[in-house]
Amino acid sequence: MAKGRPSTAFFCNECGYESSKWMGQCPACKAWNTFVEEPVSKTAQSGRSGILRKNAPEPTSVTAVSLEDISRCKTGMSELDRVLGGGIVPGSLVLVGGDPGIGKSTLLLQVCRNLSFDGHKVIYISGEESLGQIKMRAMRIGDFNNNLLLLCETGLSEIEEVIRKHKPEAVVIDSIQTMYSDNVSSAPGSVSQVREATNALMVIAKSLSVTVFIVGHVTKEGTVAGPRVLEHMVDTVLYFEGDRYASYRILRAVKNRFGSTNEVGVFEMRSEGLTEVANPSEYMLTGRPKGSAGSCVVCAIEGTRPMLVEVQALVCHSTFGIPRRQATGIDYNRVNLLMAVLEKRMGYKMAECDAYLNVAGGMKMNEPAMDLGIALSVVSSFTDKVIPEDTVAFGEIGLSGEVRSVTLASNRVAEAVKLGFKRIIMPASNKASLDKDYKAQIIAVENLSDAIKAIS
Ligand code: TYD
Ligand code: MG
Repeated sequence: MAKGRPSTAFFCNECGYESSKWMGQCPACKAWNTFVEEPVSKTAQSGRSGILRKNAPEPTSVTAVSLEDISRCKTGMSELDRVLGGGIVPGSLVLVGGDPGIGKSTLLLQVCRNLSFDGHKVIYISGEESLGQIKMRAMRIGDFNNNLLLLCETGLSEIEEVIRKHKPEAVVIDSIQTMYSDNVSSAPGSVSQVREATNALMVIAKSLSVTVFIVGHVTKEGTVAGPRVLEHMVDTVLYFEGDRYASYRILRAVKNRFGSTNEVGVFEMRSEGLTEVANPSEYMLTGRPKGSAGSCVVCAIEGTRPMLVEVQALVCHSTFGIPRRQATGIDYNRVNLLMAVLEKRMGYKMAECDAYLNVAGGMKMNEPAMDLGIALSVVSSFTDKVIPEDTVAFGEIGLSGEVRSVTLASNRVAEAVKLGFKRIIMPASNKASLDKDYKAQIIAVENLSDAIKAIS
């Protein structure tokens, strides 16, 4: 390096702006007091093209890369294993997000219990609850063994020390919003603390090959940093969702570096913790009313999994001038649109009717294939005609009343047949894609009027 040239430069901590002298405010991002001095080691060569550097990195051909087998570790809950892509990958960072009270702590405590019974050493670190509270939850879930250690701690450097000392195979951090690092002065739960804490945990996970589960709360207010800011830092992001007052819960992968993101796991919250629901369709259809108008079973897809749900409609004369429309579990605007199509194309005079729609079981379904079921249940309630109990419908409805094709038709038919349904109303354009003969009557329809004829 030439004599007299500065060997350090100042960089903005926030945006990376480079300057030869210190500044109070960054001219690029306008942040105050963010400049730090760092050494720069530029040589005359590195900036010039055309000159081959001696130690240039050598790219590898993709066929030459060999993969050691990742040995995944089963969590003891097949629904969770499926969502993770076949089990836990050692050294991975898994973020479990969800509304408060949905069951994140319960799920992870159960995972800890299963892992500890399989002989793995696990530490459950809580910054939210006391040891007594965790024990109370644990007592509801079942008996435990000595492989599971509990710790109430929020300081990251202490947590790192504990992990280095005890060398567990898995660690649960409940929750990331309560953790703080001494490197950052802002309060726990702020964006910079959450980011710093996750970064520290990532280093721990990768360097010690410990699987780290991080719990993150999602809040609507935005005062607490949601786990969204850290989605790009972790390997896997799972969201735990469901109606707090209904007992089922859905675990969904939104990002997964080790598997597909199309998978969902279904659980039921019971008094003794979460249990897996191996057959969600059966679960959703229990208690279905017999012989009542306004009920139609639809085969929707959750992830890659077909799921049968019951759509209920109640259409009655409005006592006020403006009819009320209400939808639970399905899109309100979609219901309005479908009722407009029924009115205009099929001539049902529903402009003076209230309509209440509901997906039984508290499930939320936002899929075009629900359209046909919604329309048929509305027609059934309006005309007081019962749709035969053994009938399933699915298909998207267009604005001119045509029934359009949907994805994964044969999976839907197979699921319906498996549960004993005998008549399946589906889009005609999907019929060719059915891969075999099913033990059910397939009613292929081109438009709404064909479909309504099929149920009357
Ligand atoms: P929790 O795991 O504490 O939720 P989170 O960590 O996501 O905030 O569980 C919350 C709810 O689950 C709580 O209202 C009580 C209920 N619950 C059960 O119904 N059965 C059980 O066995 C347990 C442990 C909790
Ligand atoms: Mg909790």
